[in-house]
Amino acid sequence: MKEQIQSLLHAECPWRDTLHWYPVTDSTNTQAKYLASQGAAHGTVLIAGHQTQGRGRLGRSFYSPAENGLYLSVILRPNCKPEQLMHLTCVAAVAACRAVCQASGLSPQVKWINDLVLNGKKLGGILTELACNPAGLVEYAIIGIGINCHHRQADFPEEISDMATSLFMASGQKVSRAALAAALIEHLALAADTFLRDQQKWMAAYRRSCLTIGKSIQVLQAGAVRPGQALDVDDNGSLLVRFADGHTELVQSGEVSVRGMYGYV
Ligand code: BTN
Repeated sequence: MKEQIQSLLHAECPWRDTLHWYPVTDSTNTQAKYLASQGAAHGTVLIAGHQTQGRGRLGRSFYSPAENGLYLSVILRPNCKPEQLMHLTCVAAVAACRAVCQASGLSPQVKWINDLVLNGKKLGGILTELACNPAGLVEYAIIGIGINCHHRQADFPEEISDMATSLFMASGQKVSRAALAAALIEHLALAADTFLRDQQKWMAAYRRSCLTIGKSIQVLQAGAVRPGQALDVDDNGSLLVRFADGHTELVQSGEVSVRGMYGYV
């Protein structure tokens, strides 16, 4: 798999020689954190055939069965302050949508902030994690991306099978995971080069892909559920919401349900 992915990358792709393949691991993000703490370079990419403890946002698990999905993490060393990375998840989402489109012809959207969505169902997700040094600068950032590729509906655990989809379910075609991995690596490498100076362009692209904007939503934070209307996403990736009492607020964390999706009616 590693050689196949490398053969599909352009010769000038800066991350070609820092690719690690794991037939099975607990979580590529967990392994990436370990390698980063041991000094692994910017652009180190980890891909697994199977994750036994795939992790999602908000402490959730990410279902990662053998050979059915793409499970990829990359280590970045952007040399900046953590607050400059608030849009990193959004940038990764745009890169992932572009890679999926390149490899499959399908055009996913993004449910704020990190869900990749096709036909109203979850195709995958993004988990970004940061570590800072004692000076308060970013030591490393990890972008982890999971994409459901070959799953059939019956392959998903019952509790997510109504909400989840795969490239195969959406297209009837088995997309090459190596081709998808190569496309993802190239789009992420371009993103990593440009996302700090071209923040507005990346966020304009995110807004075009973000299906949450304009929708009736529920914001779930600290056990409270508040209905509202998603108005926009700002250049830091925060969601601008008008709540039922008319006041607006920038939401930076928590879970947002979109009416009509994932069982929210
Ligand atoms: C989410 O849905 O909340 C995010 C899912 C992120 C899953 C990917 S798979 C590769 C990487 N390793 C992990 O353990 N998680 C991310």
